[in-house]
Amino acid sequence: MVRRNISAAVLSGVLAVSVLAGCGGGGDDAGSGTGSGSGDDKITLGFSQVGAESGWRTANTKSIQESAAAAGIDLKFSDAQGKQENQIAAIRNFITQKVDVIAFSPVVTSGWDAVLKEAKDADIPVILTDRAVDSQDKSLYESFIGSDFVEEGKKAGDWLVKEYEGKTDKVNVVELQGTTGSAPAIDRKTGFAEAIKANPNIQIVKSQTGDFKRADGKTVMETFLQSTPDIDVLYAHNDDMGLGAIEAIEAAGKKPGTDIKIITVDAVKDGMTALAAGKINFIVECSPLLGPQLMDLAKKAAAGETLEKRVLTEETTFTQEQAKAELPNRKY
Ligand code: AHR
Repeated sequence: MVRRNISAAVLSGVLAVSVLAGCGGGGDDAGSGTGSGSGDDKITLGFSQVGAESGWRTANTKSIQESAAAAGIDLKFSDAQGKQENQIAAIRNFITQKVDVIAFSPVVTSGWDAVLKEAKDADIPVILTDRAVDSQDKSLYESFIGSDFVEEGKKAGDWLVKEYEGKTDKVNVVELQGTTGSAPAIDRKTGFAEAIKANPNIQIVKSQTGDFKRADGKTVMETFLQSTPDIDVLYAHNDDMGLGAIEAIEAAGKKPGTDIKIITVDAVKDGMTALAAGKINFIVECSPLLGPQLMDLAKKAAAGETLEKRVLTEETTFTQEQAKAELPNRKY
């Protein structure tokens, strides 16, 4: 463990050579270390992951685990299986273990103040990754690293507005939302709705959560297809739900990408493969590769440095042609 209440200047010298008191590690139910043991000079990072709901999440977990190992950080990883109460319990466990830094990807935006206050009182810096919290007191966390989800929704909506430019027909959109109450679901909906205002013919006729999961995307799309015969466009908040919906569309005898245009977010390999094959029309990228930046921030936080409050992830968009070119290089 590295003690944080030593000035950054002193600590950086200390870190180079030395050793501080050990962290009570093992046997935790809030995660297993991936480091090579709890060497006393190693930074210990407690990380609470949302779960394994999507291809994006799997790639994000891999990025964090590999980056921790590469950075020589002792990672205590805990999978919350989509439940906020599990994340809160994991964070409390990290506090009890006196880890140097806590990071987590909050499953939903609300309800974190109490546990964040406990971490602050214990003098353990917290870094949010991927998703935001709605806490008014911004001193409860040191930094937030991740995408601008509103912007992602806007990019999806802008593409659609352009696609129907100059056309006067009504455009019926169905929307598959991410996990209810999560930052990406709230923000991707907001950004998209904002962008499609530019063409009043484009209307969202059905909108329901598919919890960012492929199976849920499929079942919700089945109900959309039954209740709404004239669907022109599907906007899915992630690739996995879009891929599930494609199965439902094909089972209903329609051609995804042609009879129903599809826009998704993430750009994981499976999504990009469907885009290149013409089954999806446009993907907005959301990068899961947050591990290296998180480890840099964790080191700085453990050294008592003040972190940039918001670290934005760079990302792009993909058309079908761009997906064909990108696919061979796609790592996740
Ligand atoms: O928070 C990021 C989102 O969570 C991804 O877009 C989605 O696939 C994941 O489950």
